[in-house]
Amino acid sequence: MSLGLDACPFIINLYRKRMNGIAYYQTADNKNSAAATLEKSIFLLCYNAREIIQKEVIKVKILIVGASGTIGTAVAKELEKKHEIIRAGRNGADVQVDLQSTDSIKDMYEKIGKVDAVINASGGASFAPVTELTPELNEVAISSKLKGQVNLVLLGIDHVNDGGSFTLTTGVMMDDPIPKGVSAAMANGGVKAFVKASAIEMPRGIRINNVSPNVLQESLEKYGDFFPGFEAVPSSRVSLAYKKSVEGKQTGQTYEVY
Ligand SMILES: NC(=O)c1ccc[n+]([C@@H]2O[C@H](COP(=O)([O-])OP(=O)(O)OC[C@H]3O[C@@H](n4cnc5c(N)ncnc54)[C@H](OP(=O)(O)O)[C@@H]3O)[C@@H](O)[C@H]2O)c1
Repeated sequence: MSLGLDACPFIINLYRKRMNGIAYYQTADNKNSAAATLEKSIFLLCYNAREIIQKEVIKVKILIVGASGTIGTAVAKELEKKHEIIRAGRNGADVQVDLQSTDSIKDMYEKIGKVDAVINASGGASFAPVTELTPELNEVAISSKLKGQVNLVLLGIDHVNDGGSFTLTTGVMMDDPIPKGVSAAMANGGVKAFVKASAIEMPRGIRINNVSPNVLQESLEKYGDFFPGFEAVPSSRVSLAYKKSVEGKQTGQTYEVY
């Protein structure tokens, strides 16, 4: 039998009984044998280790805006393993929100109460060459990717518990430009600067970071032609950067998943 932690659930399930609320050990045949004593020691070791591990990973309440999207789905899948997730978006989510409307953001926060972490995985932009980018077309990225994310933070600070976090989404285009990507890059750069600057003034130990993904493997069919020569990343890898932001201690960071 392996004595590693992997064996713990097996041993615990096999031997643990709860009597009067206290973990109770009992061997099947010979309680006084040397083998039983060894098994009892292993059980107690495993039980204590499990208790310590469970205390280290604290379950938190996480709001994910854009949870039905390509990135949002992967992030929710990763974080729901340990945490409570509230999914937000314009359609069919736990709570409705349109980040382009400050009233809608306020309504959402009123409805959900306090949370420990806010993640945004949404934001649109017009794809056009700079010579064809009109102020109107550029407004999409300003109102959605830039102001939408910034307002989610400005209106959300009082709704985030002490020591909580915000995690916003930018993208590779701000560092590695592509044709027609100027509007999205502009908004991403603004969000990155907002994160770095606001981190030093966040109250009550609240942290703020952003994740800047490369083009996702899952999005290649949709966006692949815009990113020739880019090495697409799987959404599962991108989701780990959000996990690091929520469960870690860093602030003011841009997690580049390139
Ligand atoms: N996919 C990539 O390869 C990639 C790479 C780098 C960066 N990014 C950036 O990451 C973000 C998410 O990308 P994605 O590919 O996961 O997007 P996606 O698949 O199109 O999903 C977008 C999500 O956001 C929600 N949403 C859209 N507009 C919203 C609004 N105004 N208010 C609230 N929720 C809204 C959508 O749900 P509803 O329609 O129901 O609202 C959906 O859940 C975008 O900013 C994108 O530019 C993506």
